[in-house]
Amino acid sequence: MTSPSATAPDTRPLGSAAAGTPSGTRRGTEFEGTVTVLARQAVADDVVSLELAASSGEPLPVWQPGAHIDVVLPTGATRQYSLCGPVGDTAHWRVAVLREPDGRGGSQWIHDHVEEGGELRVRGPRNNFPLRPATRYLFVGGGIGITPLLPMIAEADAAMAEWSLLYGGRTGSSMAFLPELEGHGERVTVRPQDKHGLLDLAGFLGDPDPSTLVYCCGPAGLIDAVEAHCADWPTGALNIERFAAAAVRQPADDTAEQPIEVELRASGTTVTVPPGLSVLKAVEQAGVPVLSSCEEGICGSCETSVLEGEVDHRDSLLTEDERAANDTMLICVSRARGGRLVLDL
Ligand code: FES
Repeated sequence: MTSPSATAPDTRPLGSAAAGTPSGTRRGTEFEGTVTVLARQAVADDVVSLELAASSGEPLPVWQPGAHIDVVLPTGATRQYSLCGPVGDTAHWRVAVLREPDGRGGSQWIHDHVEEGGELRVRGPRNNFPLRPATRYLFVGGGIGITPLLPMIAEADAAMAEWSLLYGGRTGSSMAFLPELEGHGERVTVRPQDKHGLLDLAGFLGDPDPSTLVYCCGPAGLIDAVEAHCADWPTGALNIERFAAAAVRQPADDTAEQPIEVELRASGTTVTVPPGLSVLKAVEQAGVPVLSSCEEGICGSCETSVLEGEVDHRDSLLTEDERAANDTMLICVSRARGGRLVLDL
């Protein structure tokens, strides 16, 4: 294996005091360090699961269903993978990686280079997709989108909540973790597209129900369809996690295409962000470090507290309520209305 880090294990907490770490965001306790790949297993066509342990032998941070880790590749790129093993296991983490031939190369690198005994650089966990308490859950997973749902199902089961899972994929052999799901009997409906066609979302979701939360992860087409079916559900009932950014929201006027001035209050500096440059890049160019990962507005790494100014939100992560609160933004994609922002950086 080509190891992204041949250095000694380096596990360090990333707290809010870390330089450039935004405050008031959805991060919990994070760490950045080296993990060893204890096991690599093919779990479906083009899907491998990796069992990881801290190379230092220390316990791994605790996490909650929906959490993901960043895998930092030797190229410097980072990719997010949902944790999908047992939540209480602080000795091991499990992720599953789909080889995406048309992707940006991260998943292919992992498939081609990561072997048992090798090491990976990771950071996290972070949770943008938390499971909220409810008496009933409807889970919809498409393809590798099953991964964050596995620990959610375990938690819903442990809480004795009522739940059902509708799991789709191209073919049965492309769908990971079917043996694990079999034990749940009729609560799990497996619908490979080559045998059953498109998922019957209307039949599965039924009518809006205030006691039910819907959790969906999968390809954009599936998420868009579930969003359409849940349009009449109560606000907050539908919870989604995307792999790729949704279509970028267009500004209501052309102010977002003007240069903006961004004051970094904690750093005591102000940067001018021209059209075509992200706030993130402008901040980095000013020498102020900020965590970032996807640079597409989906992972939450760069979430930053907003002290003044009106945000032009262009991300695919924040909820409508979070956008309306105007107190946080994803600076890799979002900009400003009104030409000026003050950030807690
Ligand atoms: S870097 Fe991922 S949301 Fe900004």
